[in-house]
Amino acid sequence: MITSFAPGRVNLIGEHTDYTGGLVLPMALTMGITVSGSVGGGRLTLSSSQQSEVLDLVLPIDGSASAVDPPWGRYLAAVVSSLDFTEGFDGSIDSTLPAGGTGLSSSSALTVAVLLALGGDRDRHELAQLARDIEAEATGVRSGIMDQLSSVSGVDGHALLIDCRTLDVTPTPLPEGLDVLVVHSGQPRILADSEYNERRASCEALETMIGPLRDATLDDLGQVSDERLRSRGRHVISENARVHAMVDALAAGDLPLAGEILGEGHRSLADDYEVSTPIVDAQAAKLSATPGIYGARLTGGGFGGSLVAFAEPGVELDIDEWWIRAEPGPGASVSSTPD
Ligand code: GLA
Repeated sequence: MITSFAPGRVNLIGEHTDYTGGLVLPMALTMGITVSGSVGGGRLTLSSSQQSEVLDLVLPIDGSASAVDPPWGRYLAAVVSSLDFTEGFDGSIDSTLPAGGTGLSSSSALTVAVLLALGGDRDRHELAQLARDIEAEATGVRSGIMDQLSSVSGVDGHALLIDCRTLDVTPTPLPEGLDVLVVHSGQPRILADSEYNERRASCEALETMIGPLRDATLDDLGQVSDERLRSRGRHVISENARVHAMVDALAAGDLPLAGEILGEGHRSLADDYEVSTPIVDAQAAKLSATPGIYGARLTGGGFGGSLVAFAEPGVELDIDEWWIRAEPGPGASVSSTPD
């Protein structure tokens, strides 16, 4: 009997920087996805606590993973096909993450948990990179490495400063007296392939003009005549600086400053990177105006989904949307016991 667990993540700051080798500061959540079952039998049979239909496929899968029924199984079919895994797995999936559209990386948690359950000897970087490649194949979104690397690298009580160029992860303790809230915007997140991939393509275009964005300065943007591209670059360059500023503010326990940095991050995502929406902006404004909240911003890819807010301990929100007090938890793991 194999049991694997992979957490979701919330990103504190460093948004849309990972795919240009930038800096991010996410934390793995204590909430995530557990897969348990046993290998063998030549079929992939999985039930899910959040879905009524059972996935039951004969391996190897005949045809494309994108034609698999029920649709929630397409992801899993993509994992099995990419691995050429034909031994079979019979088990169940249990999730403590809210279902779909929250921006807490449930799809990365699922991919990592399934990869761990199916076995194979991979270090953390290989596991994260394989999960990212499988997800890109299954969704067409050319995402960065943040979600998968946070899920495999989580450290209890810590945020993770990740250098997406070297993939170095530096656990960063969160100060006493800080509650991290994750709050749904009320708008399901749709990481529209075209929008995400378009932002990435804009960054790549910029890099052909001024070199790696990770090394660029705001002055370098003076050479770029296209105003929209300049705004995209301004977001990425200033966001990398905000990650450093946030790490320093948290180390100093300066929570008002940390809250201000969140607010600046939100404005940059909304105005320069244009990945926010009126509903998300309204939720950010409402949270920032709530007594006891230091600051709030959109978290994750954008176009809906969730916000992250820094708050004094014990703040309660009077809103209709789903929200939690998030705890930083450990990274993905797998264990096996005799059947
Ligand atoms: C999504 C992607 C990540 C990252 C964020 C934005 O969550 O999967 O790789 O690019 O958007 O920071």
